Parts: sequence; C-alpha cells; structure tokens
Amino acid sequence: MNKMQVVIMAAGEGKRMKSSTAKVLSKVNFKPMIDYVLQAAAGVSDKKPIVIIGHKGEDIQSYLQDRVLYVQQSKQLGTGHAVLQAEQEITKAECETVLVLNGDMPLITADTLQKAYAFHKEKQNSVTVVGASFEQPDGYGRLIIENGTLTGIVEHKDATEDQKKIQEINAGIYFFETASLLAALSKLTNNNAQNEYYLTDTIEIIRSENGKAGAYIVEDKKEISGCNTRAELAYADKVMRLRINRMLMDQGVTIINPENTYIEQGVQIGKDTIIYPGAVLEGNTKIGENCILYPNCAINNCKIGHNVNIKSSTLIDSTVGNNTTVGPYAYIRPGSVIGAHVKVGDFVEVKKSKIGDGTKISHLTYVGDSIVGQNVNFGCGTVTVNYDGKNKFTTEIGDNAFIGCNTNLVAPVKVGENAFIAAGSTITDWVPQDSFAIARQRQTIKENWIKPKDKK
Ligand code: UD1
Ligand code: CA
Repeated sequence: MNKMQVVIMAAGEGKRMKSSTAKVLSKVNFKPMIDYVLQAAAGVSDKKPIVIIGHKGEDIQSYLQDRVLYVQQSKQLGTGHAVLQAEQEITKAECETVLVLNGDMPLITADTLQKAYAFHKEKQNSVTVVGASFEQPDGYGRLIIENGTLTGIVEHKDATEDQKKIQEINAGIYFFETASLLAALSKLTNNNAQNEYYLTDTIEIIRSENGKAGAYIVEDKKEISGCNTRAELAYADKVMRLRINRMLMDQGVTIINPENTYIEQGVQIGKDTIIYPGAVLEGNTKIGENCILYPNCAINNCKIGHNVNIKSSTLIDSTVGNNTTVGPYAYIRPGSVIGAHVKVGDFVEVKKSKIGDGTKISHLTYVGDSIVGQNVNFGCGTVTVNYDGKNKFTTEIGDNAFIGCNTNLVAPVKVGENAFIAAGSTITDWVPQDSFAIARQRQTIKENWIKPKDKK
C-alpha cells in the first residue's frame, strides 16, 4: 500500500456550478464531495493524499485541516499544470505509483480503484486511465483506443466530429508510474482549444517514450459521473442516497421509500426500525431497534433508544430513551435528555432539559433549561419562563408532580415531589413537596352587567 501516492485535483473554479462554494466542498448527501473521494482513495493508499488547491483553497484547507497535504496552484492553467505543481511532493514521497483523481467524482468507490490498480500492475502499464462507456459522452474527454490499446485522449472541445462519436470517456482517474508521469509533465504544452495544459496529453507523450498505456473500463458507470453542474450534483446525491439506504436495508432496516429518505453516511439504525418518507437523518445519529419514524422526521446528532415512535418532529443534539413517543410536531432542541416511556406530544418544545422516565408532556408546552423528575404530568400550555431578557434560569420539578394546564413556571423555581399546581397558575416561588399551589385571581361575577339597551 505504501507504494502509492494519491493526488487529488481540486483547484478548478467549477464555473458551471455557479456557486460561491468551492466545487469539491459542494455537498452530496450531506457531505462535501471531496470526503467521498478521500474515502475511496484510502482504499488504495495509506499515505496522506496530496490535494491541489487554488480557487477557494482556504475553504478547502479549513475544512480538511491536516487530513491531507496541500499544494497550491495559483493560476488554473489546466489539469496537467495542476499535477505539475505537485512535482516536488511527488518526488519526496518516493512512491512507485501515483494515482491522480479529479476531485469532483464523489461516486467513485475503493473497490473500483483497487480493481483498476490491480489491472494497472498486472498489465505493467506506465499509465492506466479509468474510463467508461457513456451513451451521452458530451463534455467528457474521449479515449482513443486502437486495436485494444489506448493511444490518447481527446477533449470534447478539441474532438473532430468523428471523435465526438466515441462513447468511451475518460473518468479523470489515472494510475501513473512515477518516473513516467514526471517525465511527461515537463513536456506538456497548451496548444489546444482551451489553451490549457491537459493532463490527458501525458498519454501520447508517455507512449512516444515507449511507455505502455492502457484503459480500464468500469462496469458501474454511475461511479464515474463528474459533478460539474447542479443537475449532476442532484444525480450524485440520489445515487449516494440509494447506496446508503440499500446498505441499511441489507442490515434489516425497513425504508418504505428509499428515493425520498435522506440518511447521512455513518448514521446507525437498528434492525426492524421502520422509516417512512421524508426522513432527514444526519450527523452522529444512532437509532435503536424497532423504532418507527413516521413521515418527515429530521434528526441530527441524536441517540434514540429502542421502540421509540417519532412523528413529524425535529430533534437536534439530544438523546431519547426506550419506548418513548415524540410528536407529532415536537421540537427537541440541543442538550435535551429525554428518558424512557416518556410522552412528548404535539407542539411541544424541549430545550436543554432532562426529562425523567414516564413523564408526560402531551401538548402545547415549552420546557427549557429544566430538570424534570419521573412520572410528572404537564398540562396543556405549560411554559417554563426561563429567560428574563438577560439570563436563563433553571426550573426543577420533582417526581410525580402534577402541573395544571396553562401554568407559567417563572424560573428560577422548584416544584417538589407530588406537588399539585392548579390550572392557570403563575408560579414564582418554591412549591414544597406534597403541597397544592394555586396562583391566580379568584373569579369575580358581576350580575346584570350587560344592560338591556346593549343587547343585540
Ligand atoms: C476532465 C478531463 C476529461 C475528463 C473529465 C472527467 C482534462 C484535460 N480533462 O475534464 O478528459 O473526461 O475531467 O470528469 O483533464 N483542476 C485543477 N486545476 C486546473 C484545472 C482543473 O485543479 O487548472 C481540477 C478541478 O478542480 C477538477 C479536476 O481538475 O477537480 C477536473 O477539472 P475540470 O475542469 O472539471 O475538467 P473537465 O473539463 O471535467
Ligand atoms: Ca469535471
């Protein structure tokens, strides 16, 4: 493995994306596309990859940090010029083979790179280009293959009408023997339609020096679609989504409609969990077994137990215990720890709060900065008044407390165990355990207050 140095080209502007984000940081199924390229490359090399940066290079650096080595290409004069900038780093790496990859092909897999590398070695090629046969090859470089030998690559913009009919395209993945690559790079010129130094011209140069060139045609063409436009991004997103969903289904997760279920790579889901359409599951999320996610759940960075039912709700940076139900239309905000057998019902917002086992917060309630015990019952419309405009304060509620409907708990405040709060109370002081608290005006009746002349 150590014999291989990976070079990823990521300096181009990506004009066709019409974006202010560096192209390789454009997201495919939640992750910047370069992440997937790096993952695939890690399947053939355990050396730090070299990434060639230019346009929006600082953004790429601040995203990838020290996961890779960087080489600057200050002017984007073409893919050949890009690799030439890495000449010193490549020499320093003292590697036998260099794998050069376009940074904009997120669907490539480690498996395909391994197979192509094996082919390259077996054929003892100086350069092997990975390609595919496309029914609509427009825009891609075409592989010129004569009697089974790769003799060159012609860019779409430089191709003759006859060459444009060639369906074998260059994927933008090249295995070079290091010496052949370095010798060829220094001989590149920019006599072409785009006045660029094309990496693809190295094929003819290497052949003219008696090197051997070959093409490795992949079976699964989806893997080598480039991502240059929003439409291609949407295509890559879909392929990636289906790939991840397929893997989860193979592990025993039911996904009712994989086409519109959006799960980030790395999200873990237990077997027999059922996921209805519209789910968006991101980040470091783990969902247990036998859960049901009804339509339109958005869950980011959460740990969800077993047998949990969630309906049309949003959960962020929180944990939910076993056998709990959430929603419909609940909002669990960061820092919440919801226990087991809890009911968080419709239009309930919980923020940075701990909710004990068996507690019911059935409807229209806000619980923020609170520590709630077990088997507490929240009536409809309870509000923890946690903010005075400057600071946040904590509400503590003991086990088995009963909070009547439409109660305001003005924090900082404590409600003891088994305490009972009458509906409509605004609680500002400590409520001792086993006590009854009522904090509202008595009802006043004014008889005959409506005069006969005022009646309709
Ligand atoms: C390139 C290939 C083409 C192939 C296609 C596959 C060349 C000349 N053409 O075309 O044969 O079919 O990819 O998708 O290589 N880059 C730099 N510096 C530059 C120019 C580009 O780093 O000066 C990077 C880009 O950021 C990108 C990659 O190289 O990641 C490919 O560049 P792009 O402009 O997308 O090349 P294509 O026209 O798609
Ligand atoms: Ca491209």
